[in-house]
Amino acid sequence: MDLALITGASSGIGFQLARQLGERGYDIVGVGASARINDLGDHISGVEVVPVQADLATAEGIEQLWAVIERLERPLDVACLNAGRSLGGAFLDTDLDEELQMLALNVTGQVRLAKHVVRHMADRQAGRILITTSCSALTPTPYESIYGPTRSFMLSFAEGLREEMKEYGVGVTALLPGATATDFHQTAGMGNTKFGSNDWKNDPALVAEQGLDALFAGEDHVIGGDQATRDDAALNRTLSDPVKATKFAQASRPTT
Ligand SMILES: NC(=O)c1ccc[n+]([C@@H]2O[C@H](COP(=O)([O-])OP(=O)(O)OC[C@H]3O[C@@H](n4cnc5c(N)ncnc54)[C@H](OP(=O)(O)O)[C@@H]3O)[C@@H](O)[C@H]2O)c1
Repeated sequence: MDLALITGASSGIGFQLARQLGERGYDIVGVGASARINDLGDHISGVEVVPVQADLATAEGIEQLWAVIERLERPLDVACLNAGRSLGGAFLDTDLDEELQMLALNVTGQVRLAKHVVRHMADRQAGRILITTSCSALTPTPYESIYGPTRSFMLSFAEGLREEMKEYGVGVTALLPGATATDFHQTAGMGNTKFGSNDWKNDPALVAEQGLDALFAGEDHVIGGDQATRDDAALNRTLSDPVKATKFAQASRPTT
């Protein structure tokens, strides 16, 4: 059996990545912040599931996770660096400590974990890394003004790392979901925005499937979502930043 690591596996896109990698025959190391990660094995059958509860916004949490991987004494074939969060609201009002926590999870923690994963896979000259970023990487993100840049960082990181890892036989793919029906926007305190309703958003199972298909096809990136999402991403590559910022604010600006 091959082994796959998925961060943010207790919910949403990460949960679907874990479930679908299990269906593809991978043993799973699934990571989440809260105790609900311990239920992951109830949803995946026929493979080994190792749940890890760790705070990936901290160096200690990353080292705790990596110690689990090392104790398994098995090669890691797939790593999905997926855990992330947002914080909605006007930058004037949002809490700085919460923003710094988000940067610690979405950027610093990802880089810390990637360092371990990349060295491990380069030693073996094999492996595949899927980095979940966002269509928000393609636009300014008013009312999520720190979140969007964290996704741009991860997209640029993924594309650069991909080039470096080619000579080691390690693949790197970026998954850019459009708005997806998960806990994400509620957790970000965005219930009072258009993004706050899950009614119109993409199915996380579809987004995960597209990510995994692109990963195994060796693509550099993939937009996650339906045709409208892919059309919107293509449009965003042509519009000016001020126009995109106004368009994004229509969905992210609090209505109350
Ligand atoms: N949903 C969207 O519209 C959307 C669009 C574009 C990109 N994305 C990206 O997709 C990724 C997954 O988001 P999602 O929509 O699936 O969100 P979600 O349903 O809220 O799931 C977030 C996952 O991350 C885990 N997590 C949160 N903070 C953590 C921490 N400090 N340490 C370890 N794990 C932590 C959560 O664990 P607990 O459940 O235990 O808290 C959960 O498993 C994110 O990187 C996000 O930027 C989402």
